Parts: sequence; structure tokens; C-alpha cells
Amino acid sequence: MKNYTLLSPCFFGMEKMLAREIKELGFEILKTEDGRITYKTGEDGIAKANMWLRCAERVNLKVAEFEAKSFDELFEGTKRIDWSKYIPYGAQFPVSKASSIKSKLYSTSDIQSIVKKAIVESLKKSYLEDGLIKEDKEKYPVYVFIHKDKVTISIDTTGDALHKRGYREKANKAPIRETLASGIMYLNPWRPGRTLVDPMCGSGTLLIEAAMMGINMAPGLNRNFISEKWRTLDKKIWWDIRKEAYDKIDEDVEFKIYGYDIDEEAIEIAKENAEIAGVSEYIEFNVANALDFKSDEEYGFIVTNPPYGERLEDKETVQALYKNLGYTFRELKNWSYYLITSYEEFEEEFGREADKRRKLYNGMLKTNLYQYIGPRPPKKN
Ligand SMILES: C[S@@+](CC[C@H](N)C(=O)[O-])C[C@H]1O[C@@H](n2cnc3c(N)ncnc32)[C@H](O)[C@@H]1O
Repeated sequence: MKNYTLLSPCFFGMEKMLAREIKELGFEILKTEDGRITYKTGEDGIAKANMWLRCAERVNLKVAEFEAKSFDELFEGTKRIDWSKYIPYGAQFPVSKASSIKSKLYSTSDIQSIVKKAIVESLKKSYLEDGLIKEDKEKYPVYVFIHKDKVTISIDTTGDALHKRGYREKANKAPIRETLASGIMYLNPWRPGRTLVDPMCGSGTLLIEAAMMGINMAPGLNRNFISEKWRTLDKKIWWDIRKEAYDKIDEDVEFKIYGYDIDEEAIEIAKENAEIAGVSEYIEFNVANALDFKSDEEYGFIVTNPPYGERLEDKETVQALYKNLGYTFRELKNWSYYLITSYEEFEEEFGREADKRRKLYNGMLKTNLYQYIGPRPPKKN
């Protein structure tokens, strides 16, 4: 059986949640670094990882790792690889992305063109026809990552990044990344059957991700991946993984979760997105002010992403909102609440120190997930 070494980048702070997912899929973790995990899979690993990983940004097939302090070393190291093992005759192989951190080689455009030339040289040994390498078939985008002079070369198997699940056609102001939203849902113990509310839900991302997890719907079910077109992957594997993902949806589980926003347009967008995602029957969205939120339920979860107040003129409004949210949420005596914001003095405004704090990056933006953990409900007999 064929094995693959894959590497998946993630937002900083998401490594723990991604590692858990990778292990749950039965893959072996080889290395965890800040913002990426390398792991080993069997033959169906590329399809399975793309279909099921909720917290990864993409799935790359690792090709090689070597040291290069000069362009000559980069060229020779790349040329030494037998690229015909990865790229079939006629396929396109753009060197789509290069990044370099703390390394001698830093010009990303030069890195890209050197690597491209070296792959052409390697492929010429296998495919040379009329002195030309043809590139008119499916795409194998090559990624180069250099860190402290260590070059990692990989091929993107995903295409559009994994956070693009296919359901968020429209987004309201400052939507949270789908990958980050599902990471937050992994960090709290909500399970279908327990009460869950996002009182400032915007386009509904946190609840849509929660509902998809609640019914065990694979995040990749409503989209395609670049490697589905590869001749080098067995089409049957993709077909089986997609079918298995459909079969694994738990249609018997029953629950309702609730989203509110003060903005009518946001609620319309959230409803449309939930519909496209195929989870609208599990989420009730309504226009409401979070500050009016009350509940008859004794226990429940609030998971929310309030406005950050990134622009200076918003600062006072955001401070007042956080202060009033503190009063409103504290009325819900036994509830747990999880709030993600980049506002550094959140706890002071909110009026209570969090039980736990977790640093998470929303892209380049440093945020904190403030976790206020309520008691467990008594076990039902
Ligand atoms: C950062 S956005 C949430 C984005 C959301 N997580 C998403 O993925 O689209 C904050 C939201 O809070 C809403 N909001 C602000 N003040 C509110 C209030 N008092 N009550 C309810 N919603 C409010 C805004 O309309 C906005 O949609």
C-alpha cells in the first residue's frame, strides 16, 4: 500500500485541535511546528484529509526537504528529486507560492523561478519530446517554504483553501474564518442536545460549523479539490471517500441551536449560508439585540465573536457593548460563555476575569478566546 507524507498549515494557536483531528482520522503525526503539522497517511490520505479536516488551511503533499544557502544549492536540491514520480506527462506545475523566513535566500520570485527551472530539468530526463516539456493538462501547484535555510517542497492537493467550504457565498462584516470557528467549537464541550447560542452571529459561521459537527457532516462535502483531477490518484478512492462522508452524516440526531444579530441583513445572510451548507433545520436565526438575551434554560453555552473595534472611532462603542454584555451574561448563572476578540482589555470591560484564555490568530490578527466555564448540568436519570 502506498503511503503519503502530508503537511497541513493552520492558523497559529490551532495546532492542538488540528493534531486531534489528524489522529482521529487514523494518521500518524510526524512533526508539529508552529502553524503546521506533518503526518503520514495511507493511500486514501489525500482524499480523506481534504474531505474531513476542519481546522487545516490546506493539505500539501510533501516532496522533499533539504538545506540550501545559495541558489545553486536550491537548484541542485530540487533537480535531484525524481519529479516524474509526482507530475505526470503534460501536467501543469506552476510554482505557485514561495515563502522564506530567517534564511539566506529571501527573494521569493527568484526562489520560484529557480525551482521551476530545476523541475523542468528533472522532468526532461523522463518526458523530453522535441526539447519541450508540455503543460496543458491538470495542475500540480508547487509550494516552497524555506525556514532557517531548510527548504521544504510540497505539492498543493487542495486548490481553494479548505476554509472555503462552499457555503459562505455572502459574508457580513468581519466574518470569522470557518477553520477558526470549528477550532473554537472543538475547544468547548457543547454537544447536540445541549443549548447553544451565538447572540452576535453575523453570517452564522460559528453555528454552521457547530451544526455540521453535530451531524458529523464532512466540511469538504460541498466542494471539490484540485487533486480530484490528478491522474496520479485513483478516482475510486475519491469516490469512496465522498460516498463514505455522505453515509456518515447522522440524520437521527436532533437539536436546535440559536443565532441572533442586531443587523437584519446579517441574519438574512446567515439563513442563506445555513441553507447552502445543508444545516438550516438545526439553526434558528432571528434579529435581536444581544443585550436583551434571556433564557429559561438553566444551563447552556454562548459562543460568540463580538465586534472587535479595530477602528479607533469604534472603541467607545465596543467598550460599552462589552461592559453591558458582562451584565447580561452574568444573569445566566450556570451558563458557559466563550468570546473571541482581539480587544486586549476585554476582561476589564466585561467585568470578570476569564477562567481560561487561549491565544488564537484570525489570519494575522492576534485574538484571545476568553472562556468562562459554568458548572456541568446534573446527569439525567
Ligand atoms: C465580528 S461580527 C461577527 C461575525 C460572525 N462570527 C461571522 O462569522 O460572520 C460581530 C457581529 O455582532 C453584531 N452586533 C453588534 N452589536 C450587537 C448587539 N448589540 N446585538 C446583536 N448583535 C450585535 C454585528 O452586527 C456583527 O454582525
